[in-house]
Amino acid sequence: MNILGIETACDDTSAAVVRNGHEILSNVIWDQQRVHEKYRGVVPELAARKHTEVITHVIEEALDQANMTYDDIDGIGVNAMRGLLRSVVVGVSAAKVIAFSHHIPVIGLHHIEGHIYSIILDHPDIEFPFICLTVSGGHNMLINVKGHGQYELLGMTLDDAAGEAFDKVAKLLNIGFPGGPIIDQLARTGNPKAFSFPRPMLNKPNDDFSFSGLKTAVLTTVQRLKTKGEIPIPDIVASFQQAVVDVLVTKTMNAATRKHVSTVAVAGGVSANSLLRQAFEEITAKNNMTLYFPQLSLCMDNAAMIASLAYYKLKNGETSGLDLDANSNTPFGI
Ligand code: KG4
Ligand code: ZN
Repeated sequence: MNILGIETACDDTSAAVVRNGHEILSNVIWDQQRVHEKYRGVVPELAARKHTEVITHVIEEALDQANMTYDDIDGIGVNAMRGLLRSVVVGVSAAKVIAFSHHIPVIGLHHIEGHIYSIILDHPDIEFPFICLTVSGGHNMLINVKGHGQYELLGMTLDDAAGEAFDKVAKLLNIGFPGGPIIDQLARTGNPKAFSFPRPMLNKPNDDFSFSGLKTAVLTTVQRLKTKGEIPIPDIVASFQQAVVDVLVTKTMNAATRKHVSTVAVAGGVSANSLLRQAFEEITAKNNMTLYFPQLSLCMDNAAMIASLAYYKLKNGETSGLDLDANSNTPFGI
């Protein structure tokens, strides 16, 4: 089964062709970073306009790279349930037009479920259940994945997602956008113990997260240091990153222990973070647990993960009608 995936949740326009859920034939990502970096954050209106401008080209490129035409496509999967509404609308509209004119079944999917399939894509034999931490700029959840399509939402962020905190800290330090990869690099030259930032929610007996207090603690520290002179940016970002990683790792491990689950997976943009990967590798090895991360090219929003998910849904007989709607925040796993 050849599936065309389409993903336009935020600021990446992506289309991919994936065969039988696991073989990536193409995965084209039009990264809008240059459109948004001067604003140091994603501007929703500009994101939607850019998606509209490039979506046809991106889909054609994905087909070209896979050496296919629409006649070779058995199904279309599209993120229809999570992201900036006007951005999601562009992907859903494109998918419906193609589905209608080429008589191809279409299925609307949830972006977060897509991130889970960024792991399953490369590991078709992964054993259920596993605890999945999905962590990016727009979402931060702990999910007990019990099987294909079977999810127990354990917890999520009550305010900012971890990636959002990375982006906001980078913005307040004026070091660029998106903040995650920049901080990841800069932190290597800093001392993670230089500042003792709070580890929010660690003492709470639940699986929820909260990162806005940590961001405010960084802001207060920066304001205090400004009055004294130079700001030690590498030390600040290293200490901030250590606090985020401590929270993400501890909460994930707590959930796995409580649920008696010995496999852990991490997905979403922040799963590219080098310290997070190292910390998870160390702690899961020590506890004899199995760990999965997506390959780096599948951490960020991409259509290959959506196509892989669509394969499982379509195989299960699930499709959407041409009245498929775009939604910005459909609840997940409840
Ligand atoms: O999954 P994604 O592409 O989009 C959303 O669904 O939000 O994730 C983007 C987020 C941004 O907040 C970015 O700063 C963060 O992922 N990110 C990172 C790293 N690379 C990307 N955060 C920490 N360390 C990284 N290396
Ligand atoms: Zn995402």
